[in-house]
Amino acid sequence: MNPRTLDAADHEPLLQAAQAAAKNAYARYSKFHVGAALLLENGEIVAGCNVENASYGLTMCAERAAIFAAVAQFGPEVRIRSILVVSGDGAPCAPCGACRQVIYEFGPEATLIFKALSGWTHQAITDLLPHGFRLT
Ligand code: THU
Repeated sequence: MNPRTLDAADHEPLLQAAQAAAKNAYARYSKFHVGAALLLENGEIVAGCNVENASYGLTMCAERAAIFAAVAQFGPEVRIRSILVVSGDGAPCAPCGACRQVIYEFGPEATLIFKALSGWTHQAITDLLPHGFRLT
């Protein structure tokens, strides 16, 4: 599935924003550049990229960088409608487990769009993260 043919009108701006962000990635160690773009419930698009560190465990993924930027920009009530993730070289890039939990926090009904090993796909966060953690 190609994101250009998958609700192309909606996804094109997200794809552009994610690809632009991936170009800014600080991926000095892995050389794996990632960009993520959020479509928020308020219609705004916010992007992020991965930022690595010499102390590897401190690395921040593109998805969480985008979400934290969105909170900083729009406040704690911000909600994610969809998130598109790309790698700089077009390789498959499914959001990691930690990012899925953070996406769930701000978008319990969000759609995730990314290239899986089988090609482009879009899936609900609840399908990718069953029984996501929440404090009730
Ligand atoms: N990475 C992301 O940005 N998002 C993910 O969902 C998975 C991994 C980044 C972290 C690291 O900088 C690089 O990809 C290689 O793991």
